[in-house]
Amino acid sequence: MLERASEALREAQRVVVFTGAGISAESGIPTFRDAMTGLWARYDPAELATPQAFRADPELVWGWYEWRRALVSRAQPNAGHLAVAAIEARVPDMVVVTQNVDDLHERAGSSAPIRLHGSLFAPRCSACAAPAPVPSVVSTTSAGAPAAGDVEPVPEGQRLAPPTCAGCGGLVRPGVVWFGESLPADALSAAVEAAARCDLLLAVGTSGVVYPAAEIPEVAARHKATVIQVNPQPTALDRVADVNLRGPAAVVLPELVRAAWGDGPA
Ligand code: OAD
Repeated sequence: MLERASEALREAQRVVVFTGAGISAESGIPTFRDAMTGLWARYDPAELATPQAFRADPELVWGWYEWRRALVSRAQPNAGHLAVAAIEARVPDMVVVTQNVDDLHERAGSSAPIRLHGSLFAPRCSACAAPAPVPSVVSTTSAGAPAAGDVEPVPEGQRLAPPTCAGCGGLVRPGVVWFGESLPADALSAAVEAAARCDLLLAVGTSGVVYPAAEIPEVAARHKATVIQVNPQPTALDRVADVNLRGPAAVVLPELVRAAWGDGPA
């Protein structure tokens, strides 16, 4: 399996790496399908990540996203993110398409990931859509000592009032795509185009059930690209994958890179 995948990767000229929450799991960021733990345990992420939830209880939703942003700010990219950046350094044409709203790909050295679901670091007004400043760095009270520069703790499970827009006074919302909302059209079309022309797509850490993002590996498969999946569990993408590498991204991706190119510098 690993041999077949590494050979295909070594020979590929155009690669798409399509990632989901699983690639950040080993950096300590919980996935969406994992049951939430601690004080968030009584909420379902699929219910918090909606425009209806924000309208009904903006402080709950803003508090949850700020807690996640604080978690991400304190997290480090893992060996999986670093392996993705290493692939970019070796393949002539390589595009990262991510459903994640964290910034761990960029911090690992990926140059310009296409973000299908927005970013935790791009808040905007929910009324007029004007970009809003990212609140100053926050820390969670549940995850150890605050880092230097932290000003405001975001306790787990706690409501937090969203800031208001400097222009119109509307409530500021996270710059992410919620269930029922459209994906950014330019990001989606760039991702579809990259998938249609790649010769290998590597799907990492995604359940493949949220559309239209989950179309990306299907587009690649339809255009006869080799599809390699990295995931410890079976997923909806098993049917389009030519090779399934079962295991955690932070273990399997570095193995794949080593098997393809050895340990030498790019
Ligand atoms: P999910 O939470 O649906 O799925 C996470 C996937 O990661 C599962 O298939 C796990 O088996 C896998 N996984 C867990 N640990 C892993 C590890 N260490 N290495 C590799 N894989 C691992 O996350 P997404 O597929 O990203 O959308 O979810 C897609 C979208 O649904 C998200 O972007 C979000 C969501 O709810 C919106 O908020 C619109």
